[in-house]
Amino acid sequence: MSDVQSFIRFSETEFGTTIMDREAAYIKQYVAADDRILNVGCGIGSLEERFPEYQIIGLDRSEEMVQAARGRVAAPIILGDATALPIATASVDTIVFVSTLEFISDIDSALAEATRVLTSEGTIVTLVLNTRSEYVQSNLQREGSYFQRMIHRDSETLAKTILHQIDGEQEFFLGISDKEVFESSEPTTAAISSIVGTPTG
Ligand SMILES: C[S@@+](CC[C@H](N)C(=O)[O-])C[C@H]1O[C@@H](n2cnc3c(N)ncnc32)[C@H](O)[C@@H]1O
Repeated sequence: MSDVQSFIRFSETEFGTTIMDREAAYIKQYVAADDRILNVGCGIGSLEERFPEYQIIGLDRSEEMVQAARGRVAAPIILGDATALPIATASVDTIVFVSTLEFISDIDSALAEATRVLTSEGTIVTLVLNTRSEYVQSNLQREGSYFQRMIHRDSETLAKTILHQIDGEQEFFLGISDKEVFESSEPTTAAISSIVGTPTG
């Protein structure tokens, strides 16, 4: 099964839908109605699907993901790399990374690019998978799981790297176990951690 097929299959399950709905609701706390939003590593466009009323652009470096997203959502979807964004300087109000930074080797360059394209009042929203959680650990072990492509597997070190470039705080949310999604802000059970803020540089 291709990555796109497995992303689509996941997105069609109630479990996957619940997770993505909760992520989208979480991100909406940090965006204003008229924000210009850039979603880096948009995959098949799951966030764009949940943001029809926003000015959102999706970007991904995978041609297959870009093709799939274009077929699924009305939002513009761009082929490009997080470390060299084909986006004008100071043209974006909110830049979003959902389960993307942990798959990018050069995070400093990605966040430097995020800083470049943001307006002076702009916000960076990062959601990363918490490798201390059972959900992420079990997926890291699972043969064929996309999680096995994860480059940054030490969530604490990753958070420190992000906090070096974003003036914000780490927050844990969304407990996930087997096929259940529940409230959790515990660093050992929450499957996702967020850092939201303005660039430090
Ligand atoms: C785990 S998926 C997350 C997809 C989507 N954000 C979601 O939550 O459903 C990671 C995505 O990041 C993309 N990606 C990885 N490295 C990238 C890079 N350097 N620039 C842009 N996209 C990248 C992958 O192609 C993939 O679609």
